[in-house]
This record gives sequence, structure tokens and C-alpha cells, in this order.
Amino acid sequence: MENSKARFRELFGKDPDRIYFSPGRVNLIGEHIDYNGGHVLPFAVSLGITGLVSFNEGNEIQVASSDFKDEIIRFTTDDLKKTDDFSMYIKGVLYILKEDYNVKPDNGFSLFLTSNLPKSPGLASSASLEMLISRIMNDKLSLGLSDTELAVVSKNAENRYVGVNCGIMDQFAVAMGKQDNCILLDTNTLKYEYVPLYTPGARLVIINTNKPRNLIESKYNERRMECDEALKLLKGETLCRNDVEDISELVEILKKRARHAITEEIRVNDACAALKERDMEKLGKLLKESHRSLRYDYEVTGKELDVIADALNSSSLCYGARMTGAGFGGCLVALMKAVDDSALKLLMEDVNAVYNKETGLNLSYYTLTPADGTRRII
Ligand code: GLA
Repeated sequence: MENSKARFRELFGKDPDRIYFSPGRVNLIGEHIDYNGGHVLPFAVSLGITGLVSFNEGNEIQVASSDFKDEIIRFTTDDLKKTDDFSMYIKGVLYILKEDYNVKPDNGFSLFLTSNLPKSPGLASSASLEMLISRIMNDKLSLGLSDTELAVVSKNAENRYVGVNCGIMDQFAVAMGKQDNCILLDTNTLKYEYVPLYTPGARLVIINTNKPRNLIESKYNERRMECDEALKLLKGETLCRNDVEDISELVEILKKRARHAITEEIRVNDACAALKERDMEKLGKLLKESHRSLRYDYEVTGKELDVIADALNSSSLCYGARMTGAGFGGCLVALMKAVDDSALKLLMEDVNAVYNKETGLNLSYYTLTPADGTRRII
């Protein structure tokens, strides 16, 4: 923290007034159904983005990030033109506050960001940044918005400003995270409950494919359109709550997308039961089935995720593993047996040997546990 404060002083010639932290998220299960009215089971993690901020006299906003060493991006509260850099997530939130709540910051600000989230996609760094800004603005402008409302502001920023048609899961998980718990969220009503993530005899490991970001946004939007198309041809308000028998008339591609949405919803329900019963075998099996459905029906995995999932899912040390997040690269979540660090390292070296041979890339892995949501720390 002292290093970040010193860097803030170097960049902006003053001390920060406030410091905020916003986490990343892992989704345990319930993938690609937050825009299909389904239930999801994510948790916020202890890694995330720290934002040091001080407010200015005029209307200039200056932002810098430790990931982009020397660059200060400057704009004003009146000029929220989109540029192709991380400031779009900040401008997006300001844009939505203006459009939907008719509020504009009275002052500009200087903001320095540091992140210990992995650089490659998968752990919701954009939602984390959007929630950080939403929270800073809520406090500074005394808007009195609830955590749920701030998650909606952040999601709208992503949909209507950034241009990714995501659901609410990431922003909600980042906002509402609670230590030791997953969040069972009904994305149709935004009702939620905390489910303790207690995994006796097991440990959760996150594996990063380290695949460079590539066309995720356009492929994501394409899947969403396919689901909207399938829903139009079916009954009901949400794709997830149809029955598998109802989809037999759909053309093959829409049938596959709908089948994933419907069966994934059932798996979330079963996973909650497995967690409550502390049945790790059952939970692992559901993770495996989820990956298979995302691979063959939803077609959002790709070689990198599949090679790692196959290696883990055939190991006797793993209950089950699946991709987490949007897919097309990114990360996996694996429910491992309660191996110690050195046994885990050996297994991951074996998995990486196969992975590297198949893809030329190297994986990384982390042990992450559920942590609290976006908050002011100083
Ligand atoms: C991304 C989106 C989420 C969700 C997941 C897939 O992370 O931001 O809204 O759709 O993909 O489950």
C-alpha cells in the first residue's frame, strides 16, 4: 500500500483522499445462464483491484494504472467519449449515472489503480473496476444507492457503453461478495441467498489458461442472440425454465444452446444441495457435467480449456473441473481432493506438460477462497 501511495504522489503531486478495494469473482456453477433468467452460484475472491483516489477542483479526471506504467489518461466529466483503453469502464459508469440518475460528478478526480488479478480474462476484472467506480461515486455524491442498484449501474455500463451484452452475475458477485460464502442469485428477480462454500476433504483451485484475449466479446454477444432467438420460439419468459421436451422442434444449433441453459439451471440447484449435504463427489460430478455441456452444447470452451479439463477430470486427485466465466480461454475452477501444496504442484506440472505440448502455452493456478465485496478500506 505504501508503494501505491508513493506512486500516487509521483503521478498526481498529492496524497490520495480515499482507498477502495474491489474483488474479482469465480463462478462455481451456473454458466451462461445469467442472461437466460437462471440461477448462478458465484463468489467474490480476495484478489482484485485497489483504487486510490483524490478529488480535484476542476472537472478533469486523470486515471493511471500500475499495469500501464507511464500513461495518465485524461478526460473531463463533460467528455465521456469512448476510447479503446481501460478508461471505458470508468466512463461507462459515469455515463450511466448521468443517463439513468441524472447525476454528474461535481468534481473531477485523480485515480490510481493497482490490481493483483491475473492479466488474462476470466476473473471479471472489468466488473471489478466498474463496481469500484460505482462505489466511489455513490459515496462521493451521496447517491444512497444500494449494492444491488450499484451492480445494475455497473452492468448497464458494460451493456450500454462498453457494448458487451453480459448478464448481471459478475457485477452482482463483486458487489455482494461475502467471506466463506457463494451467492445463489436468481438472475430473473435478483433475489439471492448466501450458501456457505464449505468443502470438507476438498480444496478449490483456479487454473488460468493464460490464453490471450481473442474475440471473446463478439462470440459472447453471438451466444446471447442465439438464446434470445430460441426463447422467441418457445414459451415462457426465461429460457432456463423450459423443459428439455419443449425444445425438440428447434433447429439443431438453438436446441443445443437451449439444452445447455435448461440443464445448467438444474445443475445449479443440485450443486446447492450437494454443498448443503457436503457431498463433494456429487458436486465434482456436476462440475464435470457443466463443462461437458458448455463444450458440446454451448460451444464456448475451446482447446485450451478442454485440454486442462480433460487432464483434471481424468485424475484421481480431482472431484471435477469446469471452465468458469465467459469461456473461449480464461479460467477453470477445479474441486480437488484435499491434497497438500506439494502434491498439487506435482499434479499441475503433469497437467501443464500435456497442456504445453498441445497448445504451446503454460497454465498458472491459484487457491482462492470466497471474500467480501467492493468496499472502502481507508
Ligand atoms: C461473463 C459475463 C457474465 C456471464 C458469464 C458466463 O463473465 O460477464 O454475465 O454471462 O460470462 O456465465
